[in-house]
Amino acid sequence: MYSTKLRTHTCGELSKANAGQSVILSGWVKKKRDHGEIVFIDLRDRYGITQIIIEEGRKDLKESVKNVRAEFVLQVFGTVRKRPDDMINKEIHTGEIEVVADKIVILNESDVTPFEIKDNINVQEELRLKYRYLDLRRDTLKEIIIARHKTIQSMRGYLSDNGFLEIETPVLTRNTPEGARDYLVPSRNHRGKFYSMAQSPQLYKQLLMVAGFDRYYQFARCFRDEDMRSDRQPEFTQIDIEMSFVDEEDVYKVTEGLMKKVFHDVIAFELATPFLRLTYKEAMEKYGSDKPDLRYECEIKNITDTVKDSGFGVFDNSDYTFAYNTKQSLSRKQIDEYNEVAKKYGLPGLFNLKLSEGQIKGSIAKYLPEESKNKIVNQLEIEEGNTVFIASGKWKRTLEALGACRRKTGNDFYVDKNKREFKFLWVTKFPLFEWNEEANKWEPCHHIFTMPKDEDIKFIETDPGNVHGKLYDLVCNGVEISSGSIRAFKKEIQERIMNVIGLSNEEAEKRFGFLIEGFKYGAPPHGGIAPGLDRLIMIMLNKDNIRDVIAFPKSLQASGIMEDSPSKVEETRLKELGLKLLKEEE
Ligand code: AMO
Repeated sequence: MYSTKLRTHTCGELSKANAGQSVILSGWVKKKRDHGEIVFIDLRDRYGITQIIIEEGRKDLKESVKNVRAEFVLQVFGTVRKRPDDMINKEIHTGEIEVVADKIVILNESDVTPFEIKDNINVQEELRLKYRYLDLRRDTLKEIIIARHKTIQSMRGYLSDNGFLEIETPVLTRNTPEGARDYLVPSRNHRGKFYSMAQSPQLYKQLLMVAGFDRYYQFARCFRDEDMRSDRQPEFTQIDIEMSFVDEEDVYKVTEGLMKKVFHDVIAFELATPFLRLTYKEAMEKYGSDKPDLRYECEIKNITDTVKDSGFGVFDNSDYTFAYNTKQSLSRKQIDEYNEVAKKYGLPGLFNLKLSEGQIKGSIAKYLPEESKNKIVNQLEIEEGNTVFIASGKWKRTLEALGACRRKTGNDFYVDKNKREFKFLWVTKFPLFEWNEEANKWEPCHHIFTMPKDEDIKFIETDPGNVHGKLYDLVCNGVEISSGSIRAFKKEIQERIMNVIGLSNEEAEKRFGFLIEGFKYGAPPHGGIAPGLDRLIMIMLNKDNIRDVIAFPKSLQASGIMEDSPSKVEETRLKELGLKLLKEEE
């Protein structure tokens, strides 16, 4: 396999069928073991490991590898020999044989590596990122990168077989509507002007529909200057998809087919389709999240009516009271941790109840009449020892806080990190607009090119908060994998949406003029979706950090630790761009 001038076989290839053959292998020294008369070298490449043996009497060869240590690059000329049955190494693919060395050439030397190249070592991530090329030599990372390649190939095959055309769109562009902060690139030819790095190909893919390409996809690099999280990178890859003459159902079908194919091809896992669907409202009210993790239950219950007239002021005077049963017996210390979570989400704290020796105890037990307590026990199916959390307040804030607590319960008690379990669902029927309290205005939930649900179009001006969009997110195990929408392809609807969010025609013209202009020339009904490739692989391979599935990721501080980016530039470069740094940045 892959015979070249410098090797006849790879290090993962030889078996007893090759016994007696003369071969040439090239690779890295994984380990050298000097047993006095005999020397063993484990030679490693991408394909595997082969044991090389320098036999007794080969003083010349022993001498030639005297200074060889781990990670030297060797070329070994030798003969394949079957190992005796009791010496077979079942751990490696080539364990049936060894190669008896006849000549060894040192192709290159290696300094002592800053960490050992093997799995399960305790090395700080910063060091691993600085020497990423060494980190990538380790099996775990190598396997991930190979799985990433398989994912891309599988997707390309599926999309191409289904009539999608792969078309590239510009990265240097102008502001796109995803709503994150964009990276700016100053222009030398147009001093004082900037390109925006594309946050996604959104506007271009819509214009490709206007151009009549009908089914488009692209492995698109996207750039967003956002705060980092474990599932975010400043540059990431989307499988960007757009289709003409479709409605939501068509996009679901293509996406489900794509996921099914990829999980089958890459990890031999058969996903059941169609995926479950929940509306945004259902997802929020049951799980306190628009990307719920369905690997565990702990469903949130609306107990507003149950406790409304209980005489406990907070319950009586709040818009909503929600609760969930952890089904666990939590200590005071653990309960405090949950209070901290709730506070981060803007609640003053949580109430808790616990059924202990048949008695309801907990922070508010003494304020509630017996009847209310019994009702809560029934509604939340509280059993002996169960701790329950209750929160009151505004709909969204209360649910989001309880949702975060539910996530903690799930992660602490129910999620088995080693289990291959994929709970996919569609979250649909998102509101089209969101009220921004600070700015005192309506804002688009996704982006302004989303089509409202047919039945809600009549409320666009009169009741924007009740207009739902033809919007959908694909969620798996609590992570948003994809999101997309059917687009508002008609000028009239587009203008009505812009009016609600207070975007003047002039402003729209300035930002998206080229799209609006394009829409004048027979834009077809269209819609699409964009699965995030990195997040998808992270979920598929059961990793909890997006950096693990990217060959050269940025750190949590958005820096390239290996290449030391971002970096300062020379004064002359700034000058030619017409830029001057403020004093404090110099
Ligand atoms: P959206 O902004 O929701 O939609 O992004 C789509 C998907 O891209 C992934 N993603 C990210 N992955 C890693 N790091 C990030 N910083 C990051 N941001 C987003 C997620 C997400 O679900 N143009 C629209 C799509 C459309 O309407 O067709 C868009 O970009 O998996």
